[in-house]
Amino acid sequence: MGFTVAVVGATGNVGREMLTTLAERDFPADNVVALASSRSIGKEVSFGEDDILKVQGLDTFDFRGIDIVLSSPGAKVSAAFAPRATKAGAVVIDNTSCFRMEPEVPLVVPEVNPEAIAQCTRRGIIANPNCSTIQMVVALKPLHDIARVKRVVVATYQSVSGAGRASMDELFNQTRSIYVNDPVKPEHFTKQIAFNVIPHCDIFMDDGSTKEEWKMAVETRKILDPDIAVTATCVRVPVFIGHGEAVNVEFERQLSEEDARAALRRAPGVTVVDHRADEGYVTPAEAAGEDQVYVSRIRRDPTVPYGLNMWVVADNLRKGAALNAIQIAEILVRDHFGGRGGGKPSNVRPLRRPAR
Ligand SMILES: NC(=O)c1ccc[n+]([C@@H]2O[C@H](COP(=O)([O-])OP(=O)(O)OC[C@H]3O[C@@H](n4cnc5c(N)ncnc54)[C@H](OP(=O)(O)O)[C@@H]3O)[C@@H](O)[C@H]2O)c1
Repeated sequence: MGFTVAVVGATGNVGREMLTTLAERDFPADNVVALASSRSIGKEVSFGEDDILKVQGLDTFDFRGIDIVLSSPGAKVSAAFAPRATKAGAVVIDNTSCFRMEPEVPLVVPEVNPEAIAQCTRRGIIANPNCSTIQMVVALKPLHDIARVKRVVVATYQSVSGAGRASMDELFNQTRSIYVNDPVKPEHFTKQIAFNVIPHCDIFMDDGSTKEEWKMAVETRKILDPDIAVTATCVRVPVFIGHGEAVNVEFERQLSEEDARAALRRAPGVTVVDHRADEGYVTPAEAAGEDQVYVSRIRRDPTVPYGLNMWVVADNLRKGAALNAIQIAEILVRDHFGGRGGGKPSNVRPLRRPAR
């Protein structure tokens, strides 16, 4: 018997990618439930190549019998519903910023700190880090293991899909408006995003940084090492899917470009594409739809004793969100649910599978 999985935020960018990823990876689910706001009740979402799920409303959903909740409805909504789901016995893997820094909630990237998943017994919640943090720590981990990362200076080039479905529409519509000479009206972004870049992701903090920049610092420390100093500048760029990051790393010990490249080549989840020639690096458009974190442009930083620069790219909806959450769920069912499935409650409709 397999598991019962609820996807909360199933009509959104991350939720739809979760449904795709669950099906692609053949997650051992007998039943999958799609949940969203009351606005979406009765809408249909695709699950894999052939299945269609009817969306149910989160507000009135009864979580009894659900084993795992994959959640991405925004922080406020997660804060409100997650306790209800955990009380009913589900483990919630949450993609929002709601629980990430709570001490009793593990913040997990499976290639970096899979052992933290065991701490989910405390609250029944596992947090998925911010998309920009995930791809950076996947690339930092193998280097930290051999030369200890002291300080990271990172500038992000973040795609609009990281800000939700409506933000993708805004880039599309503004681009079209500019071509046909219509006025451009920013709605979700603070300024024009088409043919522009905006050094502002999430809200401003008191010290002048943005919350996205703060998240990269505190999340990296929670996941990888509390002693690592991180300073970030997060920038939204007119790209639909895929975040790029220019990462400067200072180490405690000597680490040559060759040793860094070799360590990254061995690291799980990382692909090194680093030829010092035209096309010898990966761009966000090429990473879209892919599972790997790509590392390119590895080179020494001659301004400090032990420093390297690199360019890190990943699909923010996959490794930055859905894939990371489902990798956590895979470890959860393998190591903590003893591979068994849960019950089949009356509120969960069995999947409609076509004859093969
Ligand atoms: N996009 C990324 O790269 C990324 C990466 C990591 C984490 N995240 C986080 O994941 C969350 C969702 O991101 P997204 O890009 O998927 O946003 P999105 O495309 O705007 O989708 C939001 C989803 O949440 C649902 N929702 C909104 N209000 C709700 C409510 N009151 N009750 C139930 N469902 C509700 C929406 O349902 P309706 O369609 O019914 O409104 C929709 O399914 C955010 O917290 C974001 O920070 C995103």
